[in-house]
Amino acid sequence: MVTEMLTRRSRVAVVLRMRQTDISLDGESLITPESIAAHVVAPGTTWRNDELQSARTVLGLTLGIALQQIEQGAVPYHIIHRIAGSLHELRKRYSPSIWQQLIPVAQQHPVARYFLEDPFTRWSFEKPRGYSGDAGLLDFIYGHSSVAQAIADASPVGKALYDYTKDASSSVAVRERRDILTQHVDEIASSRGSGAEVLTIAAGHLREANRSVALKEGRLKRWVALDQDPQSVGSISRDFAGTCIEAIDGSVRGILGGRHDLGKFDFVYAAGLYDYLNDKVSIKLTQRCLDMLKPNGVFLFANFATDIMVDGYMESFMNWALLLRSEEDMWRIINGSVGDLPVEATVRFGQNKNIVYGIIRKLS
Ligand SMILES: C[S@@+](CC[C@H](N)C(=O)[O-])C[C@H]1O[C@@H](n2cnc3c(N)ncnc32)[C@H](O)[C@@H]1O
Repeated sequence: MVTEMLTRRSRVAVVLRMRQTDISLDGESLITPESIAAHVVAPGTTWRNDELQSARTVLGLTLGIALQQIEQGAVPYHIIHRIAGSLHELRKRYSPSIWQQLIPVAQQHPVARYFLEDPFTRWSFEKPRGYSGDAGLLDFIYGHSSVAQAIADASPVGKALYDYTKDASSSVAVRERRDILTQHVDEIASSRGSGAEVLTIAAGHLREANRSVALKEGRLKRWVALDQDPQSVGSISRDFAGTCIEAIDGSVRGILGGRHDLGKFDFVYAAGLYDYLNDKVSIKLTQRCLDMLKPNGVFLFANFATDIMVDGYMESFMNWALLLRSEEDMWRIINGSVGDLPVEATVRFGQNKNIVYGIIRKLS
């Protein structure tokens, strides 16, 4: 049975991998798992063969236990919780170059088929829009009605796994991030009167706007939402037709190249974007965002933090690689961006420390 599962599973893995479009969006985002891997593992990095062997053995045991649990009909919550914890430990214990070699081993193992029953894990792995971390994926975290059918269609195991992944610490942090963004928009609107102007970069479906009181009460002058994905831009245009929200098809490259003449803003922010940008692009983008701020304007950027318990699960079974950043990493971007500009800057974590925020206020 295991051999049969293996053969079937290998085929599934090959088909799924072929469906993943290996693109680098606009050439500025390190958006594919492969390009992110290339970023975290310097070219020419070597490793000891015995260390790789030992890592493969530990992984093999971990996956073997999961397979046994599956065959014995263990509760999905226990299976996924144990494996997520073990993968986190493995990722922490071995160097990035070794961990990168473990990822395909996990993805091609028979147990991967089980985890792909979770519609959220499956969406992330299949990448239906051709790249990692699309707005449709985030809708699984937000529990948005657009994914209700996919959840309803999932198997009982898939639904049970989704109950775990939707409430994993990283998912909780993303929902908090959405609410923090809404809160910032509303605060800025209150402090600026009726003329506040907001720019969202990499807006996705702009779900944070759904709860904005300032938007509902018509207290914003304009809210520009930019994204490189035409499907997301279309979704924003439809959902917020008749409001001051203006959806723009644009990219980081376009912003850096000065191709979008957007004007000045009281609040500019990017969430779910810097996780795919290396430091060099992050610094250039931050500088450009500071240029687009009015005096006393605020720029905020969010990044997944280094201590995510489900990082190993995300990078393997979800094939969702991210550049995780520490407080120090955030300061490096801020300090590299502000130069002589008079600013007030802070770095702070969300409640469960899975997301870190860099906030810069331009003083003049
Ligand atoms: C993880 S989603 C985040 C969406 C939204 N900000 C949120 O927090 O729910 C990432 C978004 O970044 C967009 N994106 C990625 N790289 C981009 C780039 N280089 N230029 C513009 N948008 C980009 C994607 O199209 C996607 O909608």
